Amino acid sequence: MDGDQVAENGGQKKTGGDLREANADLREVDGDLREAKGDLREAKGDLREAKGDLRKAKGGLKEAKDGLKEAKDGLKDAKDGLKEAKGGLKEANGDLREANDGLREANGDLREAKGDPKKRSATAEGLGKAGGAMEREIDGEPKERERNLEKALRPQSLAEFQGQGDLREKLALFVAAAKSRGECLDHVLFHGPPGLGKTSLAYILSRELGVGFKGTSGPALEKPGSLAALLTNLEPMDIFFIDEIHRLSHAVEEYLYPAMEDYRIDLVIGEGAGARSVRLEVPPFTLIGATTRAGLLTPPLRDRFGIQLRLDYYREEDLAGIIARAARHLKMDVDPQGAAEIARRSRGTPRIAGRLLRRVRDYAEIRAKGRIDQETADAALKLLDIDQMGLDQLDRLILKTICLKYAGGPVGLETLASTVGEEADTIQEVYEPYLIKENFVYRAPRGRKATLKAFAHLGLTPPAGLAENGPE
Ligand SMILES: Nc1ncnc2c1ncn2[C@@H]1O[C@H](COP(=O)(O)OP(=O)(O)OP(=O)(O)O)[C@@H](O)[C@H]1O
Ligand SMILES: [Mg+2]
Repeated sequence: MDGDQVAENGGQKKTGGDLREANADLREVDGDLREAKGDLREAKGDLREAKGDLRKAKGGLKEAKDGLKEAKDGLKDAKDGLKEAKGGLKEANGDLREANDGLREANGDLREAKGDPKKRSATAEGLGKAGGAMEREIDGEPKERERNLEKALRPQSLAEFQGQGDLREKLALFVAAAKSRGECLDHVLFHGPPGLGKTSLAYILSRELGVGFKGTSGPALEKPGSLAALLTNLEPMDIFFIDEIHRLSHAVEEYLYPAMEDYRIDLVIGEGAGARSVRLEVPPFTLIGATTRAGLLTPPLRDRFGIQLRLDYYREEDLAGIIARAARHLKMDVDPQGAAEIARRSRGTPRIAGRLLRRVRDYAEIRAKGRIDQETADAALKLLDIDQMGLDQLDRLILKTICLKYAGGPVGLETLASTVGEEADTIQEVYEPYLIKENFVYRAPRGRKATLKAFAHLGLTPPAGLAENGPE
């Protein structure tokens, strides 16, 4: 082998070595590459994972944000709710205050009505009307004592109540029926002229039924709140008496309807948009209304009374009986003729009979050793200016005015009232009914007219043609 060949062989050997080396390198690179690829894959995986995490994180964030928003909304809601609740509370407090005020006022009215006997009896006895009637007799005793005497003479039971036979019989029947059923008596309306016993009968009914009695009067019941206070204070089955019921205000009357029908009151508290209605339960009760002017009652009110009874002027013999009983009470010595004389001149009215009896007693004590017979009664009544028919000065002035000043009439009520200097209401409620009943006066289309009897009673000559015009 030559050198070249050796060299060549050597070179070949060397190249083979290089190649191997290169191959090894290549393998190494390949390995690195695979490794790098693996790393890359790993990295990609990591990235994917990271992305997933990010997405997840984002989702969480959104969720958290939503949660926060929700929480904020909740808070706002809660705040609004609180505000509303506070508003409601304030309003409720206001209502409560108002309701309390109403109640206080009503209680005040009640206290006033309870505590002030003068006011109570003044209203109970019919204010101006009674005042008018009271002025009719000469005052020997203070009015308060008169009133106490009147109360003391008041009949306590239906049996003690004299006269008004039909009415008494009906009442006894209704009372017995209500008691046997254990129910309250239906609502009762008493109407008729003053002093005939309407108030007395209301008291008697409470005693006969064995129930409590609470009373007021139309003019005294000014506010629905007062009515509510009175009604809610009733005991079950009690009698609730309203004197002069024709003078109830419309507002109060409206509240009375559901109380009478369903034993409830819907009281409106507050005014305008803020007004709300409060329902109050009322125990079952019997309303007794009394009026001298039934015609002034509104039909809806009148219709709600299941029992309506009219009191008429008393017959002389009944009045004589009432006088005899009062005389026994007052320990007076009155003979039957004396009682009859007073009865004849009492205008068919027990209250007047009682008053005349006391005035006659004054006279008898001073002039007749206290004994009242017909002669003493007549002399005493003459002194009091009460004539044979029981007419007093004002009755006669009314008749004279119609007969002389207006030639027998017709004359309007207002004109007549101003001429004699008396209230038109008093003339209409107190004086006129008896003059009409006794046929001295009658109502014509254009006013009051006098009858022949009026002219005769006054000793006057009637104008020509009157006989044909009179109602007789
Ligand atoms: N039937 C009667 N028997 C005995 N006394 C009577 C009778 N009716 C009335 N009285 C007497 O007459 C007085 C007046 O009666 P009462 O007050 O009940 O009348 P009234 O109809 O309510 O009158 P007003 O319309 O003025 O309120 C009473 O004090 C009472 O003593
Ligand atoms: Mg009365």
